[in-house]
Amino acid sequence: MDAAATHVARPAYPIPENVFAETVVSVRHYTERLFAFRITRPASFRFRSGEFVMIGLPNAEKPVFRAYSIASPAWDEEIEFFSIKVENGPLTEHLQKIVPGDTVLMRRKPTGTLVLDALMPGRRLYLLSTGTGVAPFASLVRDPETYEKFEEVILVQTCREVAELTYITELVAGLKDDPLVGDAAGKLRLYTTTTRETSPRMGRITHLMRSGQLFADLGLPPIAPETDRAMICGSMAMLNETKSVLESFGLVEGANNAPATFVVERAFVG
Ligand code: A2P
Repeated sequence: MDAAATHVARPAYPIPENVFAETVVSVRHYTERLFAFRITRPASFRFRSGEFVMIGLPNAEKPVFRAYSIASPAWDEEIEFFSIKVENGPLTEHLQKIVPGDTVLMRRKPTGTLVLDALMPGRRLYLLSTGTGVAPFASLVRDPETYEKFEEVILVQTCREVAELTYITELVAGLKDDPLVGDAAGKLRLYTTTTRETSPRMGRITHLMRSGQLFADLGLPPIAPETDRAMICGSMAMLNETKSVLESFGLVEGANNAPATFVVERAFVG
């Protein structure tokens, strides 16, 4: 193991009481800006697909914690995360160097609004994301409950470059062989777009919804509150803009204690 890896590997400080210390199982780098990793799952850790947890590294007495959406489904034996690499980011500048066997800290309490319970019943579910905002949806599309509740699921991700779409594209392609999802994967449609590299579909998610192009491409009517539900995850600017697009279609924001027709979550990075 090289020096860059070992400096985050072993807990140099006592592990705080309210956190789990878990072991990195695998790491995959997709681009210079994006990577995914899996850690062991503590037996007592329960969460709902779509929720987030605070994670950190045992490399300081007071570790830096950041909120990360759990990308794996609630039934999975491991926990998966999909992360950006921020230059000089207090957590990600170290986190991007983890290797199998290293320790990752995870606070014990998951939370979040991107859960099926926060939405009223509907026919179609739109999962709208940019960049690493796709992570909670990577969890939800691997959860059979999503397909029990909705007849059709539309997963949208806008990224700068084509290679940034690899994570979700491969995940969705593998779903039909997933023993728990199986045939229900036929209910899922993936719609990916890029903004800074030429690809078959280009443009921001917000623009494609406003212009109607997204619905024309999918052969669907525009979003309507009678049939459609939505979840949004991305940067703060993306959240605000996508939220106003959904509101223009007549959808209303909900929460865990007040289910409605769409919910929003910030993709925290740093
Ligand atoms: P763009 O290339 O036009 O900025 P980032 O990696 O910066 O988080 O961006 C991920 C994707 O989200 C990019 O394709 C970016 O498009 C897009 N994006 C950034 N801001 C918004 C916004 N306010 N609404 C919709 N999409 C956005």
